[in-house]
Amino acid sequence: MKKSKLALITGASNGIGYELSKIFARNGYDLILVARGETKLKETKEHLAEYNSEISIYPADLSKYDEIINLKKWVDQNQMKIDVLVLNAGRGLGGSFINSTDLEEELNLIRLNIDSIVHMSKLFIGDMVDRNEGKVLMTSSISGIEPIPFEAVYGASKAFVNSFFFALRNEISTTNVRMTLLLPGATETNFFDNAGQSDTKVGSMDKDDPKEVAERAYYALDSNHEFVYGSDDAEYEGEVLNRALSSSHKAQKHRKISEPGSAE
Ligand SMILES: NC(=O)c1ccc[n+]([C@@H]2O[C@H](COP(=O)([O-])OP(=O)(O)OC[C@H]3O[C@@H](n4cnc5c(N)ncnc54)[C@H](OP(=O)(O)O)[C@@H]3O)[C@@H](O)[C@H]2O)c1
Repeated sequence: MKKSKLALITGASNGIGYELSKIFARNGYDLILVARGETKLKETKEHLAEYNSEISIYPADLSKYDEIINLKKWVDQNQMKIDVLVLNAGRGLGGSFINSTDLEEELNLIRLNIDSIVHMSKLFIGDMVDRNEGKVLMTSSISGIEPIPFEAVYGASKAFVNSFFFALRNEISTTNVRMTLLLPGATETNFFDNAGQSDTKVGSMDKDDPKEVAERAYYALDSNHEFVYGSDDAEYEGEVLNRALSSSHKAQKHRKISEPGSAE
């Protein structure tokens, strides 16, 4: 009997990662679900029980160097071969960089959105390259292609992810490891509440459905696409509107929806 493929998904207990976990389970993958909260991970595992996947949960704070090392050790000790790596965990932070946001929160965001992506890629994609097989989905954001006032560090972290993704994808293009970048627009998850942006227009407006974002990402990964937007609206913003505007113009446009108090 053919053994199921195994996907490791970070940020799997909510939002886009949760919807991705469902799709992978539905498509016959076994799963390793990673996030900080153990209770929510257990609930996620229960919600996915109907798909008969073998599901392991691994609670870890990926903003901490040692917890990534321990995750890799645990994977190796259990002789798990990761067929698909989904680097999706990330966080936002809203507010005025000079007048309100906390530096430690910003550095923590960088540790998760940047350091953990680099660290996880080094450890897990390195293994895939050695085996000459595997697929990687990296969740970035359209925020990575436009400066975001009042989310300045978040937008810059996703610009890093975009650059890192395309460079690494090119470096390993002679191997059979395939990489896809997901660029969601504003999506209906816990993201904006957790980032303290409920009083902004972007935090309170209608947003994309995380189910649709995940479906598009899965299709793109399965079809070996280089990148995919989370929705048609996000694609229009990224491929049409953004192409015509300077960085300062894009920043001014975005400020109207990300400035604290901009919610109607
Ligand atoms: N929602 C949007 O509008 C939007 C737009 C563009 C891009 N994105 C990107 O999409 C990705 C997923 O975001 P989402 O909207 O689905 O957010 P979400 O609903 O807040 O879910 C975030 C997930 O990541 C986990 N997580 C958070 N901090 C973590 C940490 N330090 N270590 C390990 N896991 C952690 C959370 O679980 P715990 O809290 O239990 O750890 C949760 O499972 C992020 O990379 C985000 O930047 C989101």
